[in-house]
Amino acid sequence: MASMSLEGRTCLVTGATSGIGLAVACALASRGARVIGVGRDALRSEKARAEVARAAAGGPVPEWEITDLGLMREVEGLAARILAREGSLDVLVNCAGVFTARRRLSPEGLETQFAVNHLAPFLLTTSLLPLLEAAPEARVITVSSASHFYGRIHWRDPSLSAFYLGLWAYEQSKLANVLFSYELVRRLGPGTKVRVAVADPGLANTAMGKKQGLSPSSLFWSLRRRAGSPPSVPAEAIAFLAEAPRNLVGTGLYWKGKAAMASSRLSYREADAARLWAMSEAMVEAALGRLPKKPPS
Ligand SMILES: NC(=O)c1ccc[n+]([C@@H]2O[C@H](COP(=O)([O-])OP(=O)(O)OC[C@H]3O[C@@H](n4cnc5c(N)ncnc54)[C@H](OP(=O)(O)O)[C@@H]3O)[C@@H](O)[C@H]2O)c1
Repeated sequence: MASMSLEGRTCLVTGATSGIGLAVACALASRGARVIGVGRDALRSEKARAEVARAAAGGPVPEWEITDLGLMREVEGLAARILAREGSLDVLVNCAGVFTARRRLSPEGLETQFAVNHLAPFLLTTSLLPLLEAAPEARVITVSSASHFYGRIHWRDPSLSAFYLGLWAYEQSKLANVLFSYELVRRLGPGTKVRVAVADPGLANTAMGKKQGLSPSSLFWSLRRRAGSPPSVPAEAIAFLAEAPRNLVGTGLYWKGKAAMASSRLSYREADAARLWAMSEAMVEAALGRLPKKPPS
């Protein structure tokens, strides 16, 4: 089984300004891919772009998109720009993620972790499907977490407005990544050339849990992350999924490192996955002002 050479392939990576996403962008660029990085901040994006360009070492020059993935209108705008200028997309890595100890609502009325960690990959991936289907053998890799094992979907209150715990919101969003990916496979059907994978990076030493300012959970993260691997370790595993032969990627859906494994019991509930898809569509539509801002129960 031959690997898919990434040379000249177009790879869109969200969360490419730091941690695992930046390392993924570098790993893909070092394999000759044409990387389109996505970041929310112009200065951090410029720095990251320079780092990815160094990794490309004379290969395709990385391009960058500035997008706040917490805002569905910006995700929609990103997808529209990519659709307007690309003929196909070989690899989409949904890596951006956030943890917020305190509940935050976007101007569109969405809880931040659900918006950035789940709804953004949902909207971006489904919007870019025509480009992915136009590629010879596309990959959609969404970065979840072992935290999904502890998560459940709060169907009546996904924004956790009645009672918020940062960890509950994070675990819910990471379970949503898995349910979404499995439902995507079902909707693409058996004849598709698009391969879908969920990547569990394990504990990685990144700044994710510290970005919310000083709090007990950020102090806890500062200590805990020291036991984590450098971001290059999960990045290499994600690059492996991007270039592994189609048949091999098709043998598993949830990947820890380079090995497929079982995900949580709840993640296999097909009815829940279909329900989450419908709920996500409704929440995105409401955020974009096309529906009343109330998720279906
Ligand atoms: N680190 C771990 O141990 C671990 C374990 C399991 C799963 N994960 C998952 O791995 C992924 C990457 O996390 P990480 O540890 O590498 O954290 P990180 O270093 O904080 O990277 C997160 C990335 O997401 C971006 N991002 C956050 N909010 C955004 C928004 N509103 N719009 C656009 N981009 C946004 C960040 O941008 P800025 O650079 O501007 O902040 C950054 O590029 C996440 O999905 C996380 O859930 C991490």
